Amino acid sequence: MPPTSVSNLDQEFERLAAFWSPRVVAMANGQYVIAKVKGEFVWHRHAEEDEFFLLRKGTLRIRYRDRPDAVLAEGDFHVVPRGVEHMTVAPEECWVVLVEPASTKHTGDREHAITTSIEQQLAHLRAPPQPTRQQETPAQWPSKS
Ligand code: NI
Repeated sequence: MPPTSVSNLDQEFERLAAFWSPRVVAMANGQYVIAKVKGEFVWHRHAEEDEFFLLRKGTLRIRYRDRPDAVLAEGDFHVVPRGVEHMTVAPEECWVVLVEPASTKHTGDREHAITTSIEQQLAHLRAPPQPTRQQETPAQWPSKS
């Protein structure tokens, strides 16, 4: 029987040491990327991909040149449309979940010192999975047969 594992989002964030070092925590059809952010990023755009942001902790401003900024608080989510120039600003540490296809570079069209290759983002997934906890079926539950 294959193992069933459940991961914990907050524990994944706790493991992230470097700011703006995205880490892929799960893959489903496309990809889920998790990033711990602080401070200013760079202006960029993603020609082919919408970018989904879900804020777990902190406050995140997504600046736009051609429209009002998006200001996200805990629990808020926002989609940056493809092709639209944007830059994220976080006054303090914030925890962001990004959902995007594997092809998305997190600095978009800009090659920058902080660009992390998808290979780097995925490296830990090539190691054996380390679930934060194993699913266990309580003994009193009827067993599946
Ligand atoms: Ni972006």
